[in-house]
Amino acid sequence: MDMRPIGVFDSGLGGLTAVHSLWKILPEENLIYFGDTARVPYGGRSKETILKYARQDVRFLRSFDLKAILIACGTVTTTSLDTLQTENDLPIVGVVEPTCRRALLVTKTKKVGMIATLASVRSGAYEATLRRLDPTVEVICKPCPLFVPLVENGRFRRGDIVIETVAREYLEPLKETGIDTLILGCTHYPLLTEIIGDIMGPGVTLVSAGEESAFELKRMLKARNLRADEDRQGESEFYVSDRAEDFENIASVFLQENLRHTARRIDIDKY
Ligand code: DGL
Repeated sequence: MDMRPIGVFDSGLGGLTAVHSLWKILPEENLIYFGDTARVPYGGRSKETILKYARQDVRFLRSFDLKAILIACGTVTTTSLDTLQTENDLPIVGVVEPTCRRALLVTKTKKVGMIATLASVRSGAYEATLRRLDPTVEVICKPCPLFVPLVENGRFRRGDIVIETVAREYLEPLKETGIDTLILGCTHYPLLTEIIGDIMGPGVTLVSAGEESAFELKRMLKARNLRADEDRQGESEFYVSDRAEDFENIASVFLQENLRHTARRIDIDKY
């Protein structure tokens, strides 16, 4: 049994969709969440800049005595997972492999779509992982660079003409390819599930990155004997690098429940 917390981080609020899953799947665990809200979005930046930011995020989280880290960010996973795993002496789980495994279980036609940030698509990580797991799969990737800024600004609801127009432009060509499964390769995108589902139609199954990685984390903790006492209720702490008030306003929507704790602001440049 190990009662130390799990560190979870994202460029901003998207990783909270993974926290929502962790609360359901591992309710006994303590979580320390960091959202780099001062520097979001990461997705249009270079691999070098994303790695620099990710190293700082991990350094901040490791100022706590953690037992594991979940990278609740597609962009950091696709660009920096291997380096972060090599540099750190604790287990680090990313979102790509668990999500790809789920997509391959779901697809019947072996024609899988994947939407994510520009950096994630550029990295080729989802495509390479899907092909490694099943060389016969056909993968169609599409960057959706405007989704993260719109979601961070609260523009993710059905009926919002801005997000619906942008989503149609990105997704209608993807629908025409005839995919039967679509990976939401960025942890911000589950907020757009309704809008994406409306455009893609009932014939396309959506697979979200955050939820699958929460199951992967559970398997890993069990295998390494790192799980907390299952009879307890875990606690979560939230840290951000910009105004905590802004985070709190929108975080409840991502978490689908009221934020029980206030967020604290830290200076990420110190790490
Ligand atoms: N949630 C991040 C991801 O999963 C968003 C990346 C960004 O900041 O652009 O990719």
